[in-house]
Amino acid sequence: MEIFKKASEMQAWSRQIIKQGETICLVPTMGYFHKGHLSLIEKGKTLYDRLVVSIFVNPTQFGENEDLDSYPVDLDNDLCHAERLHTDAVFLPSKNEMYKENFQAYVELANLPNHLCGLSRPVHFKGVATIVTKLFNIVMPDAAVFGQKDYQQLRIIRQMTKDLNFDIKIIGAPIVREDDGLAMSSRNAYLTPKQRESGLCLSKSIEKAKAMIKLGETDADIILNKIDVFINSFEKAQIDYATLCDPETLETVKGIKGKTLFALAVNFGKTRLIDNAILDPEQ
Ligand code: PAF
Repeated sequence: MEIFKKASEMQAWSRQIIKQGETICLVPTMGYFHKGHLSLIEKGKTLYDRLVVSIFVNPTQFGENEDLDSYPVDLDNDLCHAERLHTDAVFLPSKNEMYKENFQAYVELANLPNHLCGLSRPVHFKGVATIVTKLFNIVMPDAAVFGQKDYQQLRIIRQMTKDLNFDIKIIGAPIVREDDGLAMSSRNAYLTPKQRESGLCLSKSIEKAKAMIKLGETDADIILNKIDVFINSFEKAQIDYATLCDPETLETVKGIKGKTLFALAVNFGKTRLIDNAILDPEQ
């Protein structure tokens, strides 16, 4: 497994692979791998000739009061997993390598960031779109895999890829959950035992919303009011948002007519957890 710290070295490797007629799949990560990351790597590995994993805690996607400085890191473990899963190359740049002095070129989308997580994390998606654009230009992949847990991120990356004419297939990989339903996240490591218990309110809310729709409820306000009461019954849980919206535009909906995104973010002290599902009244 190759490890590249310089963008120019990574680019040179990719150019060589492309010249050989082989395909490349990129799995962008911020490290501290859990089973969710491993599922992305496994997916990419089976579909393309070469797999590149990037590990970079991207400072521009963290707001001022967020957890950039405490974001969990375990590089030895990450590299061990990457090697075990037959990753061909790891791109492991420093902050200065990705954001050289006088860096100015940010990528920003007009509408999609103005919903869901973008409301409480106003700089987040500008940072994500910028770093993913840079990774696409450096790794030059045929495809890139992102988790569906970050639904809005995936939607933004698909839109950006289309708008900026990146010839890259964006693959969404299913949410990986703990046995009790909690969606896997590097941030789960921050939870106290009590918060971890309350963290189940997210996946349980999804089950609750699904059950209401199955029983024929189509009024978004009725569903969301019940979900609010339900989440508030969990100790230490503070709702950031729980919303029903259009899976494409992310605009909120009043009624459940077709496939609808149910997305939620809940704070447990300083830890913010997210989860989502597509609800389909036809099913
Ligand atoms: O989902 C993540 O881990 C990050 O947002 C990403 C896509 C690697 C960009 O830093």
